[in-house]
Amino acid sequence: MSRLIVVSNRVSVPQAMGAAGAQGGLAVALGAALRENRGIWFGWSGKETDSFTGHLDMQRNFGVTTATIDLEPQDVDEYYNGYANRTLWPLFHYRIDLTEYDRSFGESYVRVNQRFAESVIPLIEPEDLVWVHDYHLLPLGSMLREKGVTNRIGLFLHIPWPPTRLFVSLPNHEQLVASMLHYDLIGFQTEEWLDSFIHYIKKEMGLKVAKDGTIEYQSRRIVARAFPIGIDYDEFLEASRSADAIGAYDRLKNSLGGNRKMLIGVDRLDYSKGLGERFDSFDRFLTDNPDMAKDVVLLQIAPPSRGDVSSYQLIRHDLERKAGHINGAHADVAWVPIRYVNRGYPRSELAGFYRAADIGLVTPLRDGMNLVAKEYVAAQDEEDPGVLILSRFAGAAPQMQDAVLVNPHSPEEVSDAIKQALAMPLEERRRRHQALLASVRDEDVVRWREHFVEALQGKGADDHSTAGN
Ligand code: ADP
Ligand code: G6P
Repeated sequence: MSRLIVVSNRVSVPQAMGAAGAQGGLAVALGAALRENRGIWFGWSGKETDSFTGHLDMQRNFGVTTATIDLEPQDVDEYYNGYANRTLWPLFHYRIDLTEYDRSFGESYVRVNQRFAESVIPLIEPEDLVWVHDYHLLPLGSMLREKGVTNRIGLFLHIPWPPTRLFVSLPNHEQLVASMLHYDLIGFQTEEWLDSFIHYIKKEMGLKVAKDGTIEYQSRRIVARAFPIGIDYDEFLEASRSADAIGAYDRLKNSLGGNRKMLIGVDRLDYSKGLGERFDSFDRFLTDNPDMAKDVVLLQIAPPSRGDVSSYQLIRHDLERKAGHINGAHADVAWVPIRYVNRGYPRSELAGFYRAADIGLVTPLRDGMNLVAKEYVAAQDEEDPGVLILSRFAGAAPQMQDAVLVNPHSPEEVSDAIKQALAMPLEERRRRHQALLASVRDEDVVRWREHFVEALQGKGADDHSTAGN
């Protein structure tokens, strides 16, 4: 097996089971993917330095070697907070209203990608596969090529690719996409995001794309395909059977009192997750169903994220206000409808919380995939499983058609779904859960990695018949 050099903005040093680990799908998925591979995970340390040196901090923890660099405050401000999280993240999540277009952000993005390229090159050996991740590093492949790297290089985008009509609002969108056409393989989470990318390639660049996703550009061949990411099912199952998980389950169940039902939401505090809309929907449910209201609690776990970006500060205030307002309007002396918690938990405890919840409420307005939906399913008791309510706009929805699918923008629809889930007969819960579990178990992170790596090695992509425009 070729050695993997994984490159991503965020490097999460692997933690022992039971420690509070990274929050975010990318870190969780890559930790699992690298554990059995003697590769290196390269990226930003998360720390700042007065003056960039490119010094590599190498560490080995729990079987994974990491190599990280520090960035200058200006880099962090304009590349990470700026271009990545004020420009690309909102635009790629269809939030053109929150997207900021600032030339200095774009310049820093290019500069930091150059710094990543220069720093990672000494780690790359001739037979290595280089696997770049996510929207922070879209042009990295072209910079590695400029510096003479001839290895196979792949990119996987963990977030959506937006429709062409939105994407063209980005200044220099042509250069950004042209720079991506130096990868050998570009992976997306779903067919929908892949289709949007191919639409752009055909309509804006006038290129032909073969049925198997092969694009020919300046005598190079690039393959674009969907590789839906999964969870580390085995690891999650082990976590959910641990003493910590059982303790967390018991604590939470005991705290509910009586036969009270619990809904759970677990999301980074991000506007793409539809948390405000979720609270509004729960409010609607409480108002419309006064007879059931006091028998239900919503536990929302939402660790703060990207706190230096104003749109994230705003959503934090907005949610605190909403939770306070809803609790004030409905609470009773022995019952508060929303438990709103802003912190991270070890994965084993999280698994216990999921299992204790009768309903998993996963209602992003737009999401590349959403691993929480898959974790919720994996953590359930097969004999008496809870119900997953899932947004149609999560990348996970095409694989999870046996969830109760909702439009997260509609409080009535989500409120009805909560009612339906609370009343769902055991037989129907089991049937839905079994179907969901089969796909969560089979389409796991190991399969995702194997498929991507096989395709990056050039296996299984021999049909280059051209599929017109
Ligand atoms: P995103 O990548 O946008 O954050 P995902 O749902 O794909 O969304 O992945 C989120 C990951 O972060 C999941 O593995 C989830 O378990 C983890 N996570 C989210 N919130 C917490 C928390 N409070 N404590 C621990 N892990 C969390
Ligand atoms: C999503 C992104 C990742 C990112 C994670 C956490 O999963 O796709 O690239 O690492 O969110 O966000 P942060 O900004 O804290 O790295």
